[in-house]
Amino acid sequence: MAERIGVLGAGYVGLTTAACFAAMGHQVSAVDIDRAKVSRLRAGKVDLAEPGLAELVAEGLRERTLAFSGDFAAVAGSTMVFLCLPTPPGEDGTPDLRALRSALGDLGRALAPGTVVVTKSTVPVGTAQRIPEYLGRADLPVVSNPEFLREGRVVDDFRCPDRVVIGADPPDSPAADRVARLYRPTKARVVRTSSASAELAKYASNGFLAVKASYANTLAELCEQCGADVRDVSGVMGLDPRIGPHFLAPGPGWGGSCLPKDASALLRAADSAGVEFGLLRDAVRVNARQRTRMVRAIRTAATGRRDGSLDGVRIGVLGLAFKAGTGDVRDSPAVAVAAELVRHGAEVTAYDPAVQSEMDGGIVVDDPYLVAKDAAALAVLTEWPEFRDLDWRRLAEAAGRPVVVDTRNVLDPTVLAEAGFARIGVGIPMEV
Ligand code: UGA
Repeated sequence: MAERIGVLGAGYVGLTTAACFAAMGHQVSAVDIDRAKVSRLRAGKVDLAEPGLAELVAEGLRERTLAFSGDFAAVAGSTMVFLCLPTPPGEDGTPDLRALRSALGDLGRALAPGTVVVTKSTVPVGTAQRIPEYLGRADLPVVSNPEFLREGRVVDDFRCPDRVVIGADPPDSPAADRVARLYRPTKARVVRTSSASAELAKYASNGFLAVKASYANTLAELCEQCGADVRDVSGVMGLDPRIGPHFLAPGPGWGGSCLPKDASALLRAADSAGVEFGLLRDAVRVNARQRTRMVRAIRTAATGRRDGSLDGVRIGVLGLAFKAGTGDVRDSPAVAVAAELVRHGAEVTAYDPAVQSEMDGGIVVDDPYLVAKDAAALAVLTEWPEFRDLDWRRLAEAAGRPVVVDTRNVLDPTVLAEAGFARIGVGIPMEV
């Protein structure tokens, strides 16, 4: 049965939800308060560099299954409303639900009886239970349907998810059945739970990923001390299906718009429930330390000393996005490391294939070879595969000292050696 779906918020989650449901044959209205964004979307212009998303939006507009509006009232006639509004961290790490509450306050009375209200953005445990209070009415069914999309592959993740989580109280409510039916075309495994379990499952997943990546980063540090290679060690671990091969790659720390915010929110939730979540607290600590460790490695590479002065020292940075495949720099460890180098007095020039934005105190260029000019060291901070294929001889000629700190272990040691580059990786024996 085709539904009339309203989507509040046209960010990564909202726009993907809207475009994918429209492509599945539903009638979708997406609303965002950013009117300039709405105008661009109406013209088929998608700001997010997500494979397949612009095509789906164009198709929805062409078929008239997808419409955009700057006015919340546009979703009033929907049979289901998906809440995809941002829930940024407040000062103490607790998610700030003001955008959500104010939208629901405005919209509450306007929704038709029987409209299913679905929370999709990440919200604290207990939010679904409080939605009637935010709406100012208690007759609308509420369903919790957290999203597990990864940036850079949101369309694929929406269409072929590992799992779809649908929470309601009771879990087998007719509204939850209807939301579950929407996902039939994905053939995904649908897990039905209470709303609290669904809400917590989202935080628990991101929190676990944070712990896993911090485990790998600490292991990398240990590998450096005892002459082991973290790629071999994690390779062995990953063959055990109880551990799995993913999220074990060391780097400059985990970032992005979700993991750090969700880890803080989960910690706050544990605190207020009187549960000591030391494991996660340590993962956050390790993450901060990892950034400092990378700055130290770059400083040592550039000056030859752990505590060498970076004043006026040129450093070339490859990668600013929080991970490859996206131009997103929100809470990017790469940006944090570059900023820390600037604070220490370094002259930083950076290149990222998907980032053109400015950098505080540094210069962002659109040619990777410019970052090497007279650099005392290069640092790879995002794992873009194209960095492997750069002309490393040309970079060596331009550089003041041919040394690169490869914080993502993406470069080819043979190519570097042939180009005369010394390479310092993370958790691997030094290759000169
Ligand atoms: C993350 C989750 O993976 C998604 O499932 C979730 O839906 C999403 O957050 C969200 O809550 O919206 P995303 O933020 O796109 O997705 O990024 P990830 O691919 O998870 O990477 C997060 C960070 O971990 C990046 O900085 C990445 O470089 C780092 N990372 C990842 C590592 O340091 N090592 C690894 O092995 C893997």
